[in-house]
Formats: sequence, C-alpha cells, structure tokens
Amino acid sequence: MEFAQIVKKRFMCRSYEDRDVPDEVLDRILDLAVRFPSAGHTQPQEFIVIRSEDTKYQLARAALDQFYLAEAPVVIVVVSDTRRSKARYGERGEKFYSIVDGAFASLLIMLAAVDAGLGAAFVGAFDDDEVRAVLGLPKAVRPIGIIPIGFCAERPQKLPRLSKEHIIHYERWKDRAEFA
Ligand SMILES: Cc1cc2nc3c(=O)[nH]c(=O)nc-3n(C[C@H](O)[C@H](O)[C@H](O)COP(=O)(O)O)c2cc1C
Repeated sequence: MEFAQIVKKRFMCRSYEDRDVPDEVLDRILDLAVRFPSAGHTQPQEFIVIRSEDTKYQLARAALDQFYLAEAPVVIVVVSDTRRSKARYGERGEKFYSIVDGAFASLLIMLAAVDAGLGAAFVGAFDDDEVRAVLGLPKAVRPIGIIPIGFCAERPQKLPRLSKEHIIHYERWKDRAEFA
C-alpha cells in the first residue's frame, strides 16, 4: 500500500471481527515495527505479543475496563526498558526519551497493521502497576501502550481535526486567541 494511503486509512479501531490474524501476517508487522528509531539508538522498546484470552481480559481490566481490546485476536503491549535510556541519558532518558521511543514504535506497529489490511488502536489509559502485574514487568520497565490488532469491524468516525492553519506555525510560535 502506498504510504499516503496507509496514513489516511489509519484510525483507532475499537471493534474487531472474530477472525484470527495469521502468524505470518503478525511476523510481517513485527519485522517492520522493530525498525523503530530511538534516542541515541538505545533501543529501550520491547514488545509483548499476547493471544491468550485470559491475559487480554486482564489487560482490558487494567485499561480501566476497555473491554474492546480483548476482542482483538492479537494484542501487542509496547514497553520501554527505562534502564537502557537512563544508563545513557540519565533523568531525561528515563522520563522523556523512553516514552517518545515507545510512542514511535507504537505508531509503526499501527501503520504496519494498516498496511497488512488490519485495524489497530492505541490504548494509553491504563494503570501502570496493574499492567506490570499482569505481564510480570519489573518496575523499571514502563508500559507505553496496549495495541489491539485484528480485522476491523467498524468504519472510521469522521473526527473533526484542527485546521492546518491552526496547528502549523512558520518560523516562530504564534499564540492563538484561545489561550491569550
Ligand atoms: C497517548 C494516547 C492515549 C490514548 N489512549 C486511548 C485509550 O485508552 N483508549 C482508546 O480507545 N483510545 C485511546 N487513544 C486514541 C485516541 O483517542 C485517538 O487517537 C483520537 O481520538 C483520534 O482518533 P484517530 O486515531 O482515530 O484519528 C489514545 C491516543 C493517544 C495518542
């Protein structure tokens, strides 16, 4: 699929068909996703691939009862091992780069899923410690996003977007009346 088409087709899919994602399709998504960038190439990002119904259910509970994510045949949890970020960049690495790195990897996963003809979503509302407990993550491994993936059973909503004029600044920040 052409890149522009992938970007335009991506939306948060919150309902999935009862249909499996073949292993080779998942592998293709993972092969693309591991090409994420990371600060100083520290590569704190790791992925936990989940197909277990029980684990998906527990993750949905940890994600403030967002049960739609358990409908997806595959869930990938993106985590950042902040020890790698901290070792190189101290507090900025631990508290900032590790999150940005995880977010970049998450977007790659979602775009790769769309390229494979699937839908995906990014679930960021969850209790960190509950997700840690479900997956056995050590304290220094921060969950960044829970990404359900599957054949999407819904059409994209037409979400209004802020206009290009509103969000793009040239040369310098220009304050908007709304915050003045
Ligand atoms: C940091 C972050 C956290 C999010 N958390 C959730 C979430 O917990 N549950 C959910 O259904 N969507 C979540 N979303 C998805 C957004 O609601 C969605 O991207 C936004 O409404 C725009 O819709 P679109 O991605 O379909 O264009 C999250 C997105 C981001 C970037």
